[in-house]
Amino acid sequence: MPPIFEITHKACAGRIGRLETRHGIVETPTIMPVVNPNIQTIKPSELRKFGAEIIITNSYIIYRKPELRERARSEGLHSLIGFDGPIMTDSGSFQLSVYGEVEVNNVEIVQFQQEIGSDIGVPLDIPTPPDVQRARAEEELGITYTRAKEALGLKKDMLLAAPVQGSTYPDLRERAAHELSQLDFDVYPLGAVVPLMESYRYSDLVDVIVASKKGLSPAAPVHLFGAGHPMMFSLAVALGCDLFDSASYALYAKDGRYMTVRGTYHVDNLQYLPCSCPVCISHDAGELIKSENREELLARHNLYVTFEEIREVKQAIKEGSLWELVEQRCRAHPQLLNGLKRALHYSDWIEQFQPVSNSTFFYSGPESALRPEVVRYRKKLKNLKLGGRVLIRMRRTGNEDDFDWVLDFKPPFGPYPIELKETHPFNAETTDEPDYESLTAALQNTLELMELNPDSEFTLVLDDLPEHPLMKEIKNYHNA
Ligand code: GUN
Ligand code: ZN
Repeated sequence: MPPIFEITHKACAGRIGRLETRHGIVETPTIMPVVNPNIQTIKPSELRKFGAEIIITNSYIIYRKPELRERARSEGLHSLIGFDGPIMTDSGSFQLSVYGEVEVNNVEIVQFQQEIGSDIGVPLDIPTPPDVQRARAEEELGITYTRAKEALGLKKDMLLAAPVQGSTYPDLRERAAHELSQLDFDVYPLGAVVPLMESYRYSDLVDVIVASKKGLSPAAPVHLFGAGHPMMFSLAVALGCDLFDSASYALYAKDGRYMTVRGTYHVDNLQYLPCSCPVCISHDAGELIKSENREELLARHNLYVTFEEIREVKQAIKEGSLWELVEQRCRAHPQLLNGLKRALHYSDWIEQFQPVSNSTFFYSGPESALRPEVVRYRKKLKNLKLGGRVLIRMRRTGNEDDFDWVLDFKPPFGPYPIELKETHPFNAETTDEPDYESLTAALQNTLELMELNPDSEFTLVLDDLPEHPLMKEIKNYHNA
């Protein structure tokens, strides 16, 4: 059987993939707009126009209401919702996490999803919140695992998602992911991350994503449950998330909030509309604020910018500039920047997925000094077997012929053989004046190269550099 998920392009730990469902193929990364079976500000049949390839709804809301339940059973989910593409259904676990209980058990809700023709079903997992006691997280993980396994036994032609829980314990997340990936699930959502996103805890979110990804097969599609703000898509995609769902576009609209990739504005504070979607070119800020349809117009705008960002992310994957996009987007909020900084702790992990690229590395700030490409080069230094007289220079010196090796010095990489000047990543576009972090990385690599080649005689021509404490260490080493 061909795999239901096929990866076609990669960048960082992110990818473009094709997910096959009974109602068609979905290109990932993508976002599934949340459709409420009761209230629909925007008709599901209209969602394709915004870019939606798949939507998500809640089977528990349908199940709970006899009229909807019977209609779903007789005419099927797709007809009930009014969308003929793929539909994922959630199970009621979210209601479980908010209200503490639901009037349905795992077997009933999984069978119901199967019966009404859901494309991707979800068992009744337990969304363990962040920061709970470890014992509770472990106990609830056990229940989630048992229910996921039980659901697998009931599954017929529906794809089945196995939520990865484990609260804010990275080892539990990794273990849960690993255990679930031993079974034959089709999609792996990372659960109970909404509270982290609501409180802007992006560095904890990064820990959760990376720990879970470490336990999963890299070939598995991963869904970040409840992630709907476009400003964080690129970061989550770069860490290997493929599917998102958004109720945010509608919930934000209800509160009068206007989404942009730079953050969220309250519509009452807008004097201009910094967007060119159909809503924003046909209204000015004053009209939007006063409109009777304000909520619907905001929901539409929010959906447009959400899908615009998905396309931006996919384009960045194809051209190999995803990391640049992540660095730009994470400047939208200091907490997102914390998320980026935390992601850089995992550069080593990201580096193993990152394909060797033909694109140009753009240095875009101190975080670039810790990018996976820099980490990869550091690891490769040991393969650079030098001997004899070695020149490390920032500019032509004129006496290059006196040396056995001539290395260019370029922050954040440090010394590299001049023959590689035009190749990735050494053809990087960098600033003329290196920042502190970039120089640190470059000088660390210089020291390491000197230590790796104790028999070589190094000559360093590194004038015009700002002062840096590592410079002294290099000089001492040099003179020893
Ligand atoms: N929606 C948001 N978070 C979750 C989760 O952890 N599990 C399920 N089933 N749905 C969710
Ligand atoms: Zn707009």
